[in-house]
This record gives sequence, C-alpha cells and structure tokens, in this order.
Amino acid sequence: MFDEGQLYAPVTADEDGKVTVHLADDHPGAHDAEYRRRRSQIAAPALAWQPGDPVPRVQYTESENQIWETVCRELAPKHARLAIRGYLEGKEALALPTDHVPQLDEVSAGLGPLSGFRLHPAAGLVPLDVFYGSLADGVFHSTQYLRHSSQPLYTPEPDILHEVVGHCNLLANPAIAEVKRRAGEAARRCETPEGLQYVADVFWFTIEFGVMYEEGELRAYGAGLLSSYGEIEEFRGADIRPVDFDQMATLAYDISHYQPILFACDGMSELTDRVAGFFADFDDDRAARLARNAAHA
Ligand SMILES: [Fe+2]
Repeated sequence: MFDEGQLYAPVTADEDGKVTVHLADDHPGAHDAEYRRRRSQIAAPALAWQPGDPVPRVQYTESENQIWETVCRELAPKHARLAIRGYLEGKEALALPTDHVPQLDEVSAGLGPLSGFRLHPAAGLVPLDVFYGSLADGVFHSTQYLRHSSQPLYTPEPDILHEVVGHCNLLANPAIAEVKRRAGEAARRCETPEGLQYVADVFWFTIEFGVMYEEGELRAYGAGLLSSYGEIEEFRGADIRPVDFDQMATLAYDISHYQPILFACDGMSELTDRVAGFFADFDDDRAARLARNAAHA
C-alpha cells in the first residue's frame, strides 16, 4: 500500500498567511534558499485558489523554462521508443510547448476539445478523496512548480513536468481519459477509507505505473514511467504480471524506488474495457470482500 502524502512536500500557511513549503532534508533544493523561496511563492496562490477563480499564472524564469526544455528534449526519443501508441497520439494532438513551461489554463484549453478535462492548481498534496473524486468531473489537480535545477532529470515529488508531460498527454487521449473518469466515479462511490485506498492502489498500478503489450512489445502508459527519465528505461526489467486488481491492492510497494513489480495490460482494450469496467463496478463491498478473504487466508 502506498501513501501518496509521502510524495509531496507539505505546504503550510501561518496566521499571517505566510506560505511555506517544507522540503525534506534530502530534497535536491533543501539547502537552496532561493529555491525554497520560489517554491513558497508558487504554492501561495494555488493554496488560496477557490473553484471559479482564474487559475493562477506563474511567471516562469529562464532557468525553469530551461529545465522544461531539457526534460522534454531528453524524454522525446524515449517516448517514441517506449510509450504506447495511444500516449503518442495524445501527445501529438495536445502539442505542448517544448521550449517553455505552459500555463495550466493553456493546457486546459488544449485538453478541453480532446477529452473535456481541465486542470485545477495544487499547492502540493490534494486529499485523496478530492484528488480522485474530481476526476469524475473531468478535473485533474496539477502542481505548478519545477524540480531543482541541479538535477533536471530527477524529482522526488510530482512536479508540473510529471503532471503535464505524464498525465496530460494521457488525458489528451479520450479513451484513456474515460478510464480516469471511471476511477473518479469509483472514488466518489466510496464511503470507507479502505474502498478509497483500493481505488488509489489500482490507479497507482495502472494510470501511474501501467505497462501494456502492443504487438508483442512491452510499452509504458503510466504517467509515472512516462515522465521519468530513469525509470522509463528500466520498466522492461521489472517483474511483469497480468492485471490482477486484488493483487494491486495488497502488494506492499515503496514509492521512493523504481517499481519492481508492474502489471501489463494485453493491448489497449484491456485498459479501456477491463480496467475501466473494474472502476465502473467498484464499490466499498469489493474492498470489504478483499479484507475478508485476506483474514481467512
Ligand atoms: Fe501522478
């Protein structure tokens, strides 16, 4: 089981409204005062944002645009070689800029006609029920900050490169966007933390770290793989298993390392029919049944 909260640096606001992003000591930017200041500067408007407000725009610096450009350039040939066709089609249709960081509302304007999805700003961690539940409304929560410039090809947290290059290119594919909507509807139906965690775990092993056989070749569709310079080269060496939802929900996994076990869909239809169907049928009873079976095993 994973706790997505561990992925994001906590963001707090004090009584005077001063916003602070608390980076872990081993974060590449932890000892860079300017980076810490910048992170808080970007987080503050997102934290104050309410639905209906205009989405905060960030004036990205030369160095931030450079990080975006470097990562896009380095990932492009890897995507061509290792991503599923449906991702590459979404990427081509969305046609994100590669030389500067796009604004969230620009990405939303591109996604709207393709799949109806739009982005809401996130300062950091969004509560699980809100994050997953809002997918049912075609809303994806995206952070706006970038990783530290000392390590452009590594990030301990999901930054805007992960959200936009990983998730939004997937959301530009209407069939995959539908799977995310079904996951959101499943999360909305849950009334127990166990149910919600089950949805989050299946989401993790599909939308975040899913792989797929296409014409006999193993390719990636998970946003976590497609936005990771290192992990995208490693997934073919993982222990690849057929899709098994109960197994996804019971496997212990470590979010801070490359995933040693991955689940492969056999072609796009297993994702758009079987995984989407699982989310469409999911309710708390399924999680309760799993817990009962585990207790009797
Ligand atoms: Fe993600």
